[in-house]
Amino acid sequence: MQINWEHLKEQATAAMKQAYAPYSKFPVGVAALVDDGRIVTGCNVENASYGLTLCAECGLVSSLINSGGGRLIAFTCVDISGNLLMPCGRCRQLLQEHGGSKLQLATDDGIKTLAELLPWAFGPEEMEKRLD
Ligand code: THU
Repeated sequence: MQINWEHLKEQATAAMKQAYAPYSKFPVGVAALVDDGRIVTGCNVENASYGLTLCAECGLVSSLINSGGGRLIAFTCVDISGNLLMPCGRCRQLLQEHGGSKLQLATDDGIKTLAELLPWAFGPEEMEKRLD
């Protein structure tokens, strides 16, 4: 599938503008292309109990599932200045579940796969192998 990275970044930027980040003052927006062609987005949602903060990727995954599911194909994450951000470690694991090792990510060093960002990942395949 053709990936329009510019459009994905615009969608991530629009989502970033919806962020609720009064504590860090670090709004984050994410957007991803799904294998059926739709785009899902998310923004970070912080909490007075800091540790309960939801990263933007949490919102994206919730939106993915709530809008019909599917596999993530391409992902981008931006900050308030339009810089590309790398997903935090926990969010790499979220992306692993719904995009897998082949998920493509925009980075300052070009397009990378999730396998490069999260090598030797633990994912649904491991569970399948061990639960039958
Ligand atoms: N944040 C995200 O939304 N996603 C990431 O992958 C990195 C961090 C948010 C969480 C928090 O609201 C703010 O960025 C500062 O850490």
